[in-house]
Formats: sequence, structure tokens, C-alpha cells
Amino acid sequence: MNKQIILLPGDGIGKEIIESAKYVLNTVASEFGHRFTFHSHAIGGDAIDQYGTPLPEDTINACLNADAILLGAVGGPKWEGLPGNIRPEQGLLGIRKKLGLFANLRPIQGFAPLLHASPLKEEVVNGSDILIIRELTGGLYFGKPSERINEGKAVVDTLYYEREEMERIVEKAFESARIRRKHLTSVDKANVLESSRLWREVVNEKSKDYPDVTVEHMLVDAAAMKLITSPTQFDVIVTENLFGDILSDEASVLTGSLGMLPSASIRADGVGLYEPVHGSAPDIAGKGIANPLGMILSAALMLRHSLQMEEEANEIEEAVLACLEQGYHTADLSVKNGKQVGTKEMTEAVVENLTTKS
Ligand code: NAI
Ligand code: MG
Repeated sequence: MNKQIILLPGDGIGKEIIESAKYVLNTVASEFGHRFTFHSHAIGGDAIDQYGTPLPEDTINACLNADAILLGAVGGPKWEGLPGNIRPEQGLLGIRKKLGLFANLRPIQGFAPLLHASPLKEEVVNGSDILIIRELTGGLYFGKPSERINEGKAVVDTLYYEREEMERIVEKAFESARIRRKHLTSVDKANVLESSRLWREVVNEKSKDYPDVTVEHMLVDAAAMKLITSPTQFDVIVTENLFGDILSDEASVLTGSLGMLPSASIRADGVGLYEPVHGSAPDIAGKGIANPLGMILSAALMLRHSLQMEEEANEIEEAVLACLEQGYHTADLSVKNGKQVGTKEMTEAVVENLTTKS
């Protein structure tokens, strides 16, 4: 298959790790007989330097015509306090909005060789493998009115959702559960919120189309507790915008390093933006020591969710796990008796595992 992939390296370590993703994807292409065509475009601080704006028209147009988009990271102290309040992060928020991305997917795993790096007990994290799906376009973050009222003595934020917004994200969650362990936890606050009661209704209705998936409803406060006391009980979690924002950050501690975490933001036709969860890490940029695995795992998500290449995605994820088992680690991961390597060597190790497997 011939696929057009847009690369948005961005700033800091973004530029270094995007090369890792490209190398791994080219390896997958030659192993499986695909053709990936890559086009790089500017975003964030990099785009401010070149074009005076964090999101140039050219970048938007390229993304609108892409099969999938891979992004490194944006931001850094270099672009703080610019005239006109221009910020690199506006590039990221802008492109998510332009593309109409409504589902944010954050897989979180307790990788066996990294269990000791988690602040939680090893026996609690061991075996955890969760996919959190967060609604991105509705809820409290976008509802109007959102303002001070009564001469500043009161305030209002609005939680607004349309049924259709709930239906499309819930459908995505069922589809994702179907290709995993077929267990879906829907998180809400239905004992208090009317929006949560509609959410529950939509989940129950959709569940009729997915008899093979087991559904469980959980209140958000209980879910917050269980995520860190018994994370292995979860497979796919689906929830609205605010709850998802909080729960996905909470769950990220399971893995032990920010550098390991991938994410996807997608829309109904499958087009998506894939990026590691971490930022541009200005403190280590240019040193060649950044962990490329969150970026590489984001490329695997891209194959799975935008390009229908499930087998290829699995191969990448297995190669990453194999590297960790062989003791390879970057400076952010403390692995006992391991081989500490830089970005390039880590990437080589993944590629090596990919090619020796087949
Ligand atoms: P950060 O995620 O860039 O870094 C936090 C800490 O984790 C740093 O010590 C960094 O060295 C380390 N780290 C992050 N990724 C790593 C990797 N792959 N390998 C090894 N170590 C890694 O967050 P921070 O420092 O708060 O923000 C730095 C800049 O990034 C800011 O301008 C911020 O706005 C931006 N940012 C961008 C995001 C994005 O592009 N999606 C997300 C978060 C922050
Ligand atoms: Mg957050």
C-alpha cells in the first residue's frame, strides 16, 4: 500500500525522535511490501522561526491531504514572551482543531522490564495494559457560557454535549475493545450529572451492536482509585473530555517514564495525528539521548488506527518490548543491569528486533 505520511518534527527532541519513527516505518515498509511517502512540514517554534506563525497555511493544507500525521513535540523557552502572544503550542491546538480530531487514544502499559520504574508497587502494575479513549471536542472545555457573572461574584462553565458526539466516541471505543481483550469500562458521573446519564444511555444502546464486548459502567471517582490500586482490571476505558484529561495523566504513572508513552488523536474517517505524550524536553535537546520509544509506539498506533495495518503495528510493539527485555534503555529509564544507549542506538535496536523476527 502507498501511503502519504506528513511529518511535523517541531522543536527540541521532536526533531531527533521523528527520525527514529521514520527509520522504523521504512523498515516496516520494506518488511511488508508497503510504500510510505514522507513529507516534512514546519510547526510550533520551528515554524515561527521560518514563517512567523506556529501553523503555516502550507502545513495545514499538507495535513488536510494526508493519510496520517506524525508529530514530534513543540515548544521551548526560546519562544516565550514573543510579541503578539505568539506561542508554539498554538500550532498544535490549531492543527487538532482544523482536522476535527475527536478521539484521543492513550495506551498505557506496565512493561515488565520497567516495573521497578513505576512509583506504584511492581505487583500492582505487572500485567497492566490499558487504552484510555477520551472525547476531545465537547464538554466543559468548550461549552458556552464560560464566564464570570454577577459582577465577578459568581462564575459559570457549561458542560455541553451533543448525542452525536457521544455516539461517535463510544463507537470508536467498542471497535477498539473488539480488537483487544473485549472489555469496555465506560466512566461517568451518572449519579450526579445529566450529561453522564445520557452518556450511559448511549453506551447501553451501542452495546447491542457489540455483543462480543463486555461493558461495565464506573463512576469517575471509583475509576480514579482503581486505576492505581488495580490497573489490571481495565482493558479499554472510554470517557468524556474532562474526566479523560485527568484519568489519562493519572494512568501515565503506571509506565514509569514519560518517554515511553504514545498517543493518537483521530476522526471518523480514520485520519489521525500521532505524537508522544511528552513535550520538546529542552533540557536534553540536541544531546542525542532522548528516548525515541514513545514516538516509535505512536507510529505503531498510526499503522493500527489510520492505515489498517494491525499486524505491522503489533510487530513494532513486540520489537520495542524485546529491546527492553534485552536491557536496552535510554537515560530516562533506569533498568537494572541494562545497556544505556542514546536515541540512535535505541532506534537501531528496535529495527534490529524488527528485522531478525521475520
Ligand atoms: P517535557 O515532556 O518536554 O519534559 C519533562 C521532563 O521529561 C524533562 O526533564 C525531559 O527531559 C523529560 N523527557 C520528556 N520526554 C523525554 C524523552 N523522550 N526522553 C527522555 N526524557 C524525556 O515537558 P516540559 O519540560 O514541561 O515542557 C517542555 C516544552 O514542551 C514546553 O515548551 C511545553 O509547552 C512543551 N510541551 C509540548 C507538548 C507537545 O508538543 N505535545 C506536550 C507537553 C509539553
Ligand atoms: Mg492533561
